[in-house]
Amino acid sequence: MSGYVVVGTQWGDEGKGKIVDVLSSKMDYVVRFQGGNNAGHTVVVNGKKTILHLLPSGILSKNALCIIGPGVVVDPFVLLDEIKVLEDGGMKVDHLYISDRAHLIMPYHVKLDELEENRLAKNKIGTTKRGIGPCYADKYTRIGIRVGDLKDFSYFKERLENALLIKNEIIKKVYNEKPFDFDTLVNEFSVIREKLIDRIVDSGDILNKALSSGKKVLFEGAQANMLDINYGTYPYVTSSSPTSGGVITGAGVSPKYLENIIGVVKAYSTRVGEGPFVSEQLNADGDLLREIGGEYGATTGRPRRCGWLDLIVVKQACEINGLTDLVLTKIDVLSSFEKIPVCVGYELDGKVIDYIPSTIPECSRIKPVYQYFDGWMEDISNIRDYAKLPLNCQKYIEFIEEFTKTRISLVSVGPDRENNIITHPII
Ligand code: GDP
Ligand code: IMO
Ligand code: MG
Repeated sequence: MSGYVVVGTQWGDEGKGKIVDVLSSKMDYVVRFQGGNNAGHTVVVNGKKTILHLLPSGILSKNALCIIGPGVVVDPFVLLDEIKVLEDGGMKVDHLYISDRAHLIMPYHVKLDELEENRLAKNKIGTTKRGIGPCYADKYTRIGIRVGDLKDFSYFKERLENALLIKNEIIKKVYNEKPFDFDTLVNEFSVIREKLIDRIVDSGDILNKALSSGKKVLFEGAQANMLDINYGTYPYVTSSSPTSGGVITGAGVSPKYLENIIGVVKAYSTRVGEGPFVSEQLNADGDLLREIGGEYGATTGRPRRCGWLDLIVVKQACEINGLTDLVLTKIDVLSSFEKIPVCVGYELDGKVIDYIPSTIPECSRIKPVYQYFDGWMEDISNIRDYAKLPLNCQKYIEFIEEFTKTRISLVSVGPDRENNIITHPII
């Protein structure tokens, strides 16, 4: 088996980008299967930080071919900018391909995302305003435009005309804003077409052939299960399936190839945007986690909401993703706390439950049940050997394994590619 999956187990920003980069040196392909440039994946190599939004995080490790899969929504302006930044830095980006079936985020999607968030005002989702929801909505109402539509430009124009008819009506009548001009968009997209045409491929065919011949393929999730359209805290979610199930439909590969399903778990919790967050700390502890952890959005720069580790959330991630391994990140950030609470249960209307209710009113009534751990109060970022970690730190790690019934294969103790303690080699 040669399919590897990396997914987030909380609300995103667990450090997926770092882990994908670490594993990429041994991969033949690295593939994004859902989401778009709402993602912000940070990779640090020898102290140099790169934030990737659409490009797979394997892009910096030049041996792997990188694919933006069918389930992704692609803002071509952002994509071309990201490629240019890497090229300006001296890197050749000739190992990137885009699925013909991926949908294009059009400028009107970005505008509609912003207009709708403004209309919702205090009820807003807190989206990244990158046009993700409006693009996926058009995909499902079947007025979306796909990357492959650029190949036959007259067909692209037909699709655009059809979409604009409806989109412009909504923009004018619902939001009272200026409509988009067909000719301007056609001119912009004829330039985009020239720049992207050689990268457009049928990725499903490439990947199934690669997997069947034993090549190693890593599927890189964006967001996480608590933002999943089905299993997250709806409507405070994203518009795709960031779980391992999303790989099968989003990359178009057979489930039989997915054997290693790796969940990335941050040693505490963060969330960006609105929605329930049971173990949130709106106090000095939350502020300290934000400052030490550098918890500011990699995409929007927004301060992330911070709180203690919620193992009910992580356990749900283990179950719905079928995780074979966990990777624990940012445990170095906890070195400044004398006592570390971990949420191990939810109290709802006087009863303790061990699952996440589906409705917002129920989630809002939950009180966390904490188990308290002694801290270790020493810098662990230079440790590379598990046995050298302070005993209290080992106890914290082993409790997570016990509670989730999932082994922790790698402990990340700093942002750089090298800051790792490997406990069970994944590859
Ligand atoms: P992603 O969206 O899951 O890829 O995560 P982000 O890149 O948005 O956020 C994770 C942040 O934590 C980035 O700034 C990483 O450089 C940083 N990071 C990753 N792993 C570690 C770690 O083990 N320790 C510390 N201190 N920082 C880490
Ligand atoms: P990575 O891949 C954290 C959140 C937004 C908002 C909700 C919906 O870096 O972990 P959207 O723009 O997707 O319609 O916003 O989802 N969100 C993320 N939060 N990390 C992400 O990605 C996110 N992508 C979207 O803040 O609450
Ligand atoms: Mg991120």
